[in-house]
Amino acid sequence: MRWEERINNYVKETGFPRSLFIAEDGRVVGTWIMGNDYRVRSAYYGGYPATYLRRIRALFPDKRRVLHLFSGHVDLAELPGDTVDINPALNPTYVDDAQTLKKVPLHLYDLVLADPPYSVEDAERYQTSMIKRNLVMRALQRLSPGAHVVWLDQVLPMYRKDIFDVEAVIGMWKSTNHRFRGITIFRRRERKEASVIAAAPSHTGVDV
Ligand SMILES: C[S@@+](CC[C@H](N)C(=O)[O-])C[C@H]1O[C@@H](n2cnc3c(N)ncnc32)[C@H](O)[C@@H]1O
Repeated sequence: MRWEERINNYVKETGFPRSLFIAEDGRVVGTWIMGNDYRVRSAYYGGYPATYLRRIRALFPDKRRVLHLFSGHVDLAELPGDTVDINPALNPTYVDDAQTLKKVPLHLYDLVLADPPYSVEDAERYQTSMIKRNLVMRALQRLSPGAHVVWLDQVLPMYRKDIFDVEAVIGMWKSTNHRFRGITIFRRRERKEASVIAAAPSHTGVDV
């Protein structure tokens, strides 16, 4: 599905204003102002704001197998899928560390939503250690080509440019006194494409 179609579907399905655009370099850029409906329905610390999952679902109507990484109390009625969290008390599909994802058959999923703790202070709220983002992105390299990763954070994680493309960046505003966040949407590149680029020294552009 092309991004133009994704954006059209987003406007049609959500009724929100057209706020995503294809820039001249082909990348999608935009801003979501979450407005008054920014509450976290589950009341879980750091949970997705009310309309977040509906917006993502509308952008990816073609996806069949969704994985919620750092799943917390994610609302599966809004976007059904399997879940991964390190905390067994949350009853995820997989109790696993996102930095290795040893138990997760990643090749089966075509859309991953990741919502990590953003800081040491945030991690303390979950009684976990702060994650190393590059390790999570490294584990996600096992996704199949064409799979997308929707990463919500205050930091752009380190990733390999020969393995992931950044297809979209979306700024997310809540209400006053809330932190700004950014959504980075990665696509797992085709294997052939990745190996050709890896073999060409002038194109490696590797961050990790
Ligand atoms: C920001 S919250 C996610 C909230 C979720 N989006 C929601 O709507 O409820 C971050 C979650 O990451 C989990 N977590 C922290 N470190 C982790 C790790 N290394 N691996 C997997 N999950 C982890 C925490 O237990 C917490 O539930």
